[in-house]
Amino acid sequence: MLKSMAKVEATRAQRLHASIERFTAEEKDELLKEFHPDYSSKGFKVLEVGPNKGQKVPVELAQLLEGKSRLQDVELDLEKVDYDVDVLVIGGGGAGASAALEAHNGGANVLVVTKLRMGDANTMMAEGGIQAADKGNDSPAQHYLDAFGGGHYKNIPELLEELVTNGPLAIDWLSKLGVMFDKEQDGTMVTTHGGGTSRKRMHACADYTGAEIMRVLRDEVQNRGIPVLEFSPAVELLLDEEGKTAGAVLWDFDAQEYKVVRAKCVIMATGGAGRLHYQGFPTSNHYGATADGLVMAYRAGAPLIYADAIQYHPTGVAYPAQIYGALVTEKVRSIGAQLVNSEGEIFMHPLETRDVAAASIIRECTARGKGVKALDGVALWLDTPLIEMLHGEGTIAKRIPGMLRMYAKFGIDLRKEPILIYPTLHYQNGGILIDKDAETKLPGLFVAGEAVGGIHGTNRLMGNSLLDIIVFGRIAGTKAAEAAKSVKLGKLSLEHVRRYAEEEKAAGVHGELSPKLLPVYTHGRDVR
Ligand code: FUM
Repeated sequence: MLKSMAKVEATRAQRLHASIERFTAEEKDELLKEFHPDYSSKGFKVLEVGPNKGQKVPVELAQLLEGKSRLQDVELDLEKVDYDVDVLVIGGGGAGASAALEAHNGGANVLVVTKLRMGDANTMMAEGGIQAADKGNDSPAQHYLDAFGGGHYKNIPELLEELVTNGPLAIDWLSKLGVMFDKEQDGTMVTTHGGGTSRKRMHACADYTGAEIMRVLRDEVQNRGIPVLEFSPAVELLLDEEGKTAGAVLWDFDAQEYKVVRAKCVIMATGGAGRLHYQGFPTSNHYGATADGLVMAYRAGAPLIYADAIQYHPTGVAYPAQIYGALVTEKVRSIGAQLVNSEGEIFMHPLETRDVAAASIIRECTARGKGVKALDGVALWLDTPLIEMLHGEGTIAKRIPGMLRMYAKFGIDLRKEPILIYPTLHYQNGGILIDKDAETKLPGLFVAGEAVGGIHGTNRLMGNSLLDIIVFGRIAGTKAAEAAKSVKLGKLSLEHVRRYAEEEKAAGVHGELSPKLLPVYTHGRDVR
């Protein structure tokens, strides 16, 4: 490791102003097919039950989608309703909070339920920024083209249009609520590039953008007095006899008992799946990211889209072990750090789109044998000292203070030495299919945030996720509050869970107990 680091240092000055060609379309296609984990012949299973029967999804997700309901052997009295509301929001991240605020604005009686604490979500861990085309040299149309190309032209056009046209409004909404975006002396927003962007449209709060957004949204939910039940994950959706969404069953972690919520509309904002560790990858995700929403919605009949398209963030921490898999924001590359192999050579443009960048790193470490030994695996260098050579002393502390602090805890000063990175499981590009009102095929079920599929095609660009949680969170909240006004619910039912179990039995599938709720890291050892 030290020998290789010396090569990085020795080549730094000559790389400083290197102009680096981007891959051609053909080169990208080849790279992805050979080295991106989504193209691996292992790691996927074809579903045998449910609305996406016949399509492939990651094995670990299939285990849950084809799993056994937590309520299968439980006697529940659905006549005994614990909470009766207009709009139930499942999930306490940025999408859930935005949805709750707009549903509340729409006059609905809202309840937010969340598995852990309000704000324990991938939103909180988002670092680099939020895209919005609000500068003179940019436009939502340009933003659309970037995201469409990055998504391999598979983005659902109406959803992408909603995303980009609402971008400037989202920044304005957040600013008015109190989010402290980085600004120049004259008040202009500081914006940077991300991978695959043709304009600088990444708005940031240093490198803790998501935490700042979540701080403000959580305060706002609290200030409005919107009730929040923490440590109360939903475990199954409830439908009525007509098949309309009618609420959910919660598991109260404290009381260790189930609770019944009747709701005229439900907004699923349960987030991602990083803690399923697809293909053995580490993850940048928060502890509760176990695809619960996908499982509940699928079992109730809502189709998924692109559930086999996973995002591996190119720069996860590969060393030291204590922060293995944590996110090293793309902003580090936006402001000048280069990706460099064991020989001190540049092998790609630092701002290729994420799937291409991850595949290129994996190729360098495997087929080309130019990785650096780190912990139990191989990794590459992210040459961070370049940042201050390019932009001056103090830039790292000002623009990426979170990164500086994270590494400093382990005695690494990224102003002076490069860091070791390798792709980490970061995002599910696919999810539950919605229309432009954020509603699923299941009447009364809305979805927002990472649980949604289709907005980003099969590869999301940096900063479009913080944007989508706000845009579709707000749409879901507004539309659910509107819809709830005319909903007449029938008797609550779990008949769909029983029917799904029969379908599984007929197909001979036996997955795990699901939703998973929490990841298990004890390898079967009892740690009580
Ligand atoms: O690299 C990052 O800061 C991640 C941002 C994102 O996933 O949008």
